[in-house]
Amino acid sequence: MAYDSILVDIDNHICTVRLNRPDALNALNIDLLRELGKALGEAQKNDKVRCIIITGSEKAFAAGADIKMMSEKSFTDVFMGDLFTPEEDAIMRIRKPIIAAVSGYALGGGCELAMMCDFIIASDTAKFGQPEVNLGVMAGMGGTQRLTRLVGRAKSMDMNLTGRFMDAEEAERAGLVSRVVPCKKLIDEATGAAKKIAEKSMISVMAIKEAVHRSDQLPLSEAVLFERRLFHSMFATEDQSEGMAAFIEKREPQFRDK
Ligand code: CAA
Repeated sequence: MAYDSILVDIDNHICTVRLNRPDALNALNIDLLRELGKALGEAQKNDKVRCIIITGSEKAFAAGADIKMMSEKSFTDVFMGDLFTPEEDAIMRIRKPIIAAVSGYALGGGCELAMMCDFIIASDTAKFGQPEVNLGVMAGMGGTQRLTRLVGRAKSMDMNLTGRFMDAEEAERAGLVSRVVPCKKLIDEATGAAKKIAEKSMISVMAIKEAVHRSDQLPLSEAVLFERRLFHSMFATEDQSEGMAAFIEKREPQFRDK
């Protein structure tokens, strides 16, 4: 399917979605977000896709929600239209793993989109920020919530209140990103991680994603019980028998998602 604001490539079980509004540093307007939700929904349905990467350009992952689109809107428009809720829901509904490969600016909605993904691999040029305060507003797609859970209150308050940017090194130290790599190696690194995930049993992969996401929703005892029951349920799968047999027989497992 052809899109206007994103490029989609499916290769080797990996669906790579590239945000593609270069003139606006990939600012997230509603059309782009709808296309993204549609492409992710298609990737979820496509049995060939086992992992998803969302990326942008070298200069910008995304420089935020589209300020030009928002500038004319009133409270009634955004409240009654529930701005960004269906778009965020479409992303958060995806059960397959999503890696954000971030180079350059990931600001406002761009940082928030990266945080909606399961983990972030950053290039050494990445800059994260929630500069909405400079526009007389505040984060609206999770910047005060997911960022606080990921980096703690001190850094989240600092970034949300001052609007300062965090470079890749600080983001890795703070726990916002899982790895930092040279800019030119970003896509190779993200693809390498996606390939590793694609080799696993999709049952394990999707259950792990669900369990990790519960960690910031539930009290620890409930979350560990949720994890334990999912773990138990895997003993009903062929992939559990195969994975353990392969280890004992010193060979590579052949997972069949069964
Ligand atoms: N929305 C719309 N257009 C944007 C944009 C955005 N968020 N960010 C950049 N652009 C556009 C610029 O207007 C400019 O377009 P023109 O050439 O037509 O003027 C083009 O992209 C290039 O941008 P700059 O000339 O500003 O590039 P720069 O290299 O000098 O600066 C930047 C880069 C620091 C990222 C700067 O563009 C910037 O500060 N952007 C805005 C960042 C921001 O405030 N993001 C938060 C948005 S609000 C939000 O996201 C709300 C939410 O949580 C849901």
